[in-house]
Amino acid sequence: MKPIIAPSILAANFANLGQDIEMINQSQADWIHVDVMDGHFVPNISFGIPICEAVSKLAHKPLDVHLMITKPEKYVEAFKKAGATHITIHYEVCPHLHRTIGLIKELGCKAGVALNPHSPVHLLEDIIGEADIVLLMSVNPGFGGQKFIAHTYEKISKLKMLIGQKRAQALIEIDGGVNQQNASQLLAAGADILVAGSFVFSAQNSLQTIADLKQTVVTYKA
Ligand code: DX5
Ligand code: ZN
Repeated sequence: MKPIIAPSILAANFANLGQDIEMINQSQADWIHVDVMDGHFVPNISFGIPICEAVSKLAHKPLDVHLMITKPEKYVEAFKKAGATHITIHYEVCPHLHRTIGLIKELGCKAGVALNPHSPVHLLEDIIGEADIVLLMSVNPGFGGQKFIAHTYEKISKLKMLIGQKRAQALIEIDGGVNQQNASQLLAAGADILVAGSFVFSAQNSLQTIADLKQTVVTYKA
């Protein structure tokens, strides 16, 4: 199975976002990853609902909205209205995760749960059956262009095992520091979705870079 590729527009040119969305439309990317940061949960502010809406008007691909915000339950409906097809919220800010996942699904979106690098996979034992996606942060959330944390490979394997044990359907999404060097090993460990921001947008040829990620061959053996 080929991976789902989701370029993150956090690394796009905000002064010419339309051009970068058009590039993604033309590319082999499957989804567009939209990173929303609030300056509370993460030490950075990116953009919010109006930008998401503007992107959705131009995008021909699903919008994979990653909410790095506190109290996400207050905003999921607004993001759905702004064009989100997938909404991922963080375990660390959700005391009522089960309820909020239910809300996202009732809105007609796919629901994802994200774990920070320090949050163990076993925390999801009693919710994995409800999630469409588990997003493992492979950097500390808040900034693009950071170094991939290698411990992620082990977390992917543990998550894959948990999904199997619980006969769950969740897809595994990896976010942060993804590039052509680690893509193969990520897929070998069990990743289904690769998010890539700076690797795609700092490339000379972003279209080709996305195509190469999509064609990643799993050569790595654990
Ligand atoms: C980080 C974001 C990521 C980020 C990835 O907080 O969630 O989606 O854009 O960027 P790169 O690929 O540059 O690490
Ligand atoms: Zn993200």
